[in-house]
Amino acid sequence: MWYKNVLETIGNTPLVQINKITKELPCTVLAKIETTNPGNSIKDRMALKMIEDAEREGKLKPGYTIIEGTSGNTGMGLAIAAVIKGYRCIFTTTDKQSKEKVDALKAFGAEVIVCPTDVDPEDPRSYYSVSSRLEREIPNSWKPNQYDNLSNSKAHYEQTGPEIWEQTEGKITHLVVGVGTGGTICGTGKYLKEKNPNIKVLGIDTYGSVFKKYKETGIFDKNEIYPYITEGIGEDFLPQNVDFNIIDHFEKVTDRDAAIMTRRIPREEGIFVGNSAGSAMAGLLQMRHMFKEGDVVVVIFHDHGTRYLGKMFNDDWMRDRGFLVNDSPKAQDLIEGHKHLKLVTANAHDIVHDVVAKMRKYDISQIPVIDSTGAFVGSLNDSQVYSKLIEQPELKTAKVEAVMQAPFPFVHPESPIEDVSKLITKDNNAVLMKTLIGDIHIITKQDVIDALA
Ligand SMILES: Cc1ncc(COP(=O)(O)O)c(C=O)c1O
Repeated sequence: MWYKNVLETIGNTPLVQINKITKELPCTVLAKIETTNPGNSIKDRMALKMIEDAEREGKLKPGYTIIEGTSGNTGMGLAIAAVIKGYRCIFTTTDKQSKEKVDALKAFGAEVIVCPTDVDPEDPRSYYSVSSRLEREIPNSWKPNQYDNLSNSKAHYEQTGPEIWEQTEGKITHLVVGVGTGGTICGTGKYLKEKNPNIKVLGIDTYGSVFKKYKETGIFDKNEIYPYITEGIGEDFLPQNVDFNIIDHFEKVTDRDAAIMTRRIPREEGIFVGNSAGSAMAGLLQMRHMFKEGDVVVVIFHDHGTRYLGKMFNDDWMRDRGFLVNDSPKAQDLIEGHKHLKLVTANAHDIVHDVVAKMRKYDISQIPVIDSTGAFVGSLNDSQVYSKLIEQPELKTAKVEAVMQAPFPFVHPESPIEDVSKLITKDNNAVLMKTLIGDIHIITKQDVIDALA
């Protein structure tokens, strides 16, 4: 048995139990992992549905151009379907989206226009406005408009909802979903509530988005809107696919908590998923008081982790935003400034004044001493050598072994800075560290100060 084309492989994604992250929770938590779709996201489902509904309604015809504002995943679904069905694609997206997402769209032959994030949707530069203008200007073009096109939620009503119902054998009690266009949560939630009206549908929102306040007060509050980092979730307007009657509760998750949880999912569950999965999982834990023993909570993991390698899965990106949980540097971070330099050593049989000259030449205040076998047998530091030379000038011509101190202790590359700094004292100015490839480096008091400053 084989599929006639890749579009036939969309859907029927696995439902996998989450074990470690949720171990304190009384309920069963199951993740619907949408990364096995050909575009590696849930959006393949609605992209194909929007295209096929438009074809049926005569809005999309052979040779047409598909134009859409998309954060990436919908574009990917549209681009794949367009390849198979022979349409041209132009996408507008924002400069907030991962570069990986933009490049992935281009891989399928789509043209991508990157627009500024921090402008109102009505601003002519916004990715919504640019895609609408292109649709007006380019003949024979069609804009799916995933926000207001109800084929979006219908795809989930027809596929995602029934799959979850069958996979849980009707046992699902709660559905947890990140809300962007609202298609996933409202389509899936509508189907499930028709099957069992007691099922609770819980939406994940971001700080900087309007959904939660609107649900709770009926007020569309522009003051709630500000730029945020989380991708795929939250909006600054109300898409028609969001049916507030289907969503029982919105839970807001911070960018930081979402990013930290995004990193935990592959590490603790072996599931490589994106930022909105992290946000949904973090929100699920925030709502733990809503779940009891016997409950079956299904959370949707929208897309794949590879799209976030330059962001949440990149230590520098996380550190720059203050998102790294254990932010304190390790021994291996302390050698960054000089890791390309070879360790300067003295030999136990060298003459003291030669070594002092060497230390001056390299502008170093301490030096490890090795014996003829290369073993670290001692150390010298400038203040100790100078005070000895003042007391006994004749030591200038003595061998190093006559004046050296104890060797510098070794630390592991992963040792935290606190452990390293404890070893650096008045009598012991440095430690040594052997890298995993066998190079030896020195860490001095100055390296510790630089890292803390
Ligand atoms: C990664 C990701 N997560 C979550 C969502 C939200 O899904 P929906 O638009 O169906 O509400 C999207 C949609 O843009 C997405 O791309």
